[in-house]
Amino acid sequence: MARVAIVTGGTRGIGAAISKALKADGFKVAAVYRGDDAAAAAFKAETGVAVHKWDVSDFAACAAGVKAVEAELGAVDTLVNNAGITRDTMLHKMTFEQWKAVIDVNLNSLFNMTRQVIEGMRERGFGRVISISSINGQKGQMGQANYSASKAGDIGFTKAVALENARKGVTANVICPGYIETDMVKAVPKDVLEKSILPLIPVGRLGQPEEIARCVAFLASDAAGFITGATLSANGGQYLA
Ligand code: CAA
Repeated sequence: MARVAIVTGGTRGIGAAISKALKADGFKVAAVYRGDDAAAAAFKAETGVAVHKWDVSDFAACAAGVKAVEAELGAVDTLVNNAGITRDTMLHKMTFEQWKAVIDVNLNSLFNMTRQVIEGMRERGFGRVISISSINGQKGQMGQANYSASKAGDIGFTKAVALENARKGVTANVICPGYIETDMVKAVPKDVLEKSILPLIPVGRLGQPEEIARCVAFLASDAAGFITGATLSANGGQYLA
């Protein structure tokens, strides 16, 4: 029977590539998005992947949303916590709203979403929780006290969930992409990207969303059952953790 996957932030950027890769591997996929109806509709038309709209920073919305997906596709075996935002600015200029928005979407969503599916995964004796952190959660990044804190939190969350569920057939792993060619990275000031980021990437280019999607597809597969609590860096050599 086909496995069922939810991919948050699954209609654009890295998330869209993940949704497509899992579908190609035979999963029934639900891609969750928050705001961009036009992008979601285009993604659905292009891929045939089911799209669902809710805010992953809202616990009650996650509970209702997961219930709706399960009614449509069946019990969720695979959760990809991919949704993420930036509100880059130096800490000495950062507002509480900028701090909170990033922590809510990038970190609290892991609780909000994983909590909905973890009991069922344990009961059925199989599950895959894959979260997308960042190189900047590993090494820190100027202008990203909020983002780096949230992404470091994703790594700690994953390690705890891995330990708690290892005996239940449920793995939890985290991927740390480097700078990937998405709208998020295109929003970095051009001179900063060219002068301060690209020269630090040993492979000499940005990554592609599909290169992260292949990591997710592997960790989601039955073949990856012995890998849990792992942090997989995919950053072109920019940071060797
Ligand atoms: N790496 C290295 N140096 C950086 C840098 C970075 N990522 N970001 C900024 N700097 C440097 C700038 O080159 C500049 O250096 P010089 O003074 O020598 O020219 C200095 O910091 C100050 O930068 P600004 O003049 O731009 O200062 P600002 O106050 O206007 O803005 C900033 C500061 C908000 C940090 C802005 O520079 C910025 O947005 N930088 C990009 C931050 C970044 O890398 N964000 C990652 C977004 S992509 C992402 O988050 C995905 C992921 O997981 C990797």
